[in-house]
Amino acid sequence: MGFVSFLTMTKRFTRIIAILLLLSLTTASASQEFCDARMDYSVVGCGGSDSTSQTILIKGGTVVNAHHQQVADVFIDNGIVTDVKPNIKVSDEVTIVDATGKFVMPGGIDPHTHLEFEFMGTETIDDFFSGQAAALAGGTTMHIDFVIPVNGSLSSGFKAYVEKAKKSCMDYGFHMAITKWDDTVAREMEIMVKEKGINSFKFFLAYKGALMINDELLLEGLKKCKSVGALAMVHAENGDAVFEGQKRMIELGITGPEGHALSRPPLLEAEATARAIRLAGFVNTPLYVVHVMSVEAMEEIAKARQSGQRVVGEPVASGLVLDDSGLWDPDFYTAAKFVMSPPIRAAGHGKALQAALSTGVLQLVGTDHCTFNSTQKAFGIDDFRKIPNGVNGIEERMHLVWDTMVASGKISVTDYVRITSTECARIFNIYPQKGAILPGSDADIIILNPNSSFQISSNSHHSRSDTNVYEGWIGKGKVEITIAGGRIVWENNELKVKRGSGKYIKMPPFSYVFDGIEKADASYISSLRAPVNRFKGMQ
Ligand code: URP
Ligand code: ZN
Ligand code: ZN
Repeated sequence: MGFVSFLTMTKRFTRIIAILLLLSLTTASASQEFCDARMDYSVVGCGGSDSTSQTILIKGGTVVNAHHQQVADVFIDNGIVTDVKPNIKVSDEVTIVDATGKFVMPGGIDPHTHLEFEFMGTETIDDFFSGQAAALAGGTTMHIDFVIPVNGSLSSGFKAYVEKAKKSCMDYGFHMAITKWDDTVAREMEIMVKEKGINSFKFFLAYKGALMINDELLLEGLKKCKSVGALAMVHAENGDAVFEGQKRMIELGITGPEGHALSRPPLLEAEATARAIRLAGFVNTPLYVVHVMSVEAMEEIAKARQSGQRVVGEPVASGLVLDDSGLWDPDFYTAAKFVMSPPIRAAGHGKALQAALSTGVLQLVGTDHCTFNSTQKAFGIDDFRKIPNGVNGIEERMHLVWDTMVASGKISVTDYVRITSTECARIFNIYPQKGAILPGSDADIIILNPNSSFQISSNSHHSRSDTNVYEGWIGKGKVEITIAGGRIVWENNELKVKRGSGKYIKMPPFSYVFDGIEKADASYISSLRAPVNRFKGMQ
């Protein structure tokens, strides 16, 4: 047995003991509902606060919105921001939080996560409780997860995710994947939009034999998305070519994690990105490209945007700050933890993606948080094609973006708010309820100390995974307080979260990315100079 797998087993054994101990100690008292998320696997003290939201005054911080920043106080009542201005006076019962010298910002919104996701013969290790608890500890207060249909049925998929999300401790929304096409799917897409609060559908151009769809389905899906005002999203890799690339690697005897990167080069990401962009352009509907990982794919988006096409590009934390060197690590477990799709690219791509983000070529940052532990990653110990694809990030994103982009001077603090929170809220049509600190906004707020530092380790993170792709990262800026739904849930490095306290946020269709689409349609129709009226009789 390798050292890492021995460690993994020891860790798991400790967790089992911890769970048994915990079960024997737990009583049903209300105060014990608020506990550190890590209670699932290590016995730590439970908080004693109650479930009602607090009345809070955040004093003297720099309040940052995407459009403006000012030194001001923020008053929170009943889960809502009710006032933002200097020198707010309050009564003695109000909880005062001193934010002098710190930034008070909207909580992060992660547009791309996979909690409790059944994928590649297993299920992601973080569920809607542990994943969200991790998010809160890192300053993210809302995420949008991908509902996967059950045997192609959207309503069954939705039902299943409603069940999974019942344990939520922060607000969340849903995108939905489309994995097959027929009249029922088309009808259900309408129901999801009109009744269930879903305004985006994802099409996988990769994962042949599993989630992948073909161009015919993509076209049908794009047309339907346009008609219901939903944003079409794509995982852009050419799945047929990836399949071929994988065979090529195996034939060459390359079975380890590096084969993953070699089998699906940037070329295949660029091809699929370009194809999806062109088909969305043909239909004249907006397109959102998830996890943009390479310069080549980013340049396709840049070209399209420059030509006036509505394309949104989402890089993810791993693609921005890591490079592919880990995949060549001689230890399988170390290398396997970096396996995700599209792959983390060679050094240079991340910096280029950061530049694209800072100049508005790409618009917002996600994580694609999709965690598998070492035991799960080991499914592919003899064949990289069986390594479950995915990395962590939901807890780390806010810190990593601050450290690499704000602390390094690449972007302003207002831009930080825009790419980590506001733009997501606008694209998915929930602004200014989310993504802002304005009177009437939900009280989802973080307080970040730019003079403090953070450190990442699987020993201290809140994900259930035993590994972390950012292991050992030390950086500037620390989220010291997270307020979600008007309650302080993270303070003094301690989580106080409650199962079931998170709300499902319905997202209405026709967000701003659709504005004016019908005018472009009208000018297209009038540009056709057709049909030509022809005399059909004999001359
Ligand atoms: O490797 C990844 N990205 N796993 C999650 C599924 C997806 O493609 O988004
Ligand atoms: Zn994907
Ligand atoms: Zn994903």
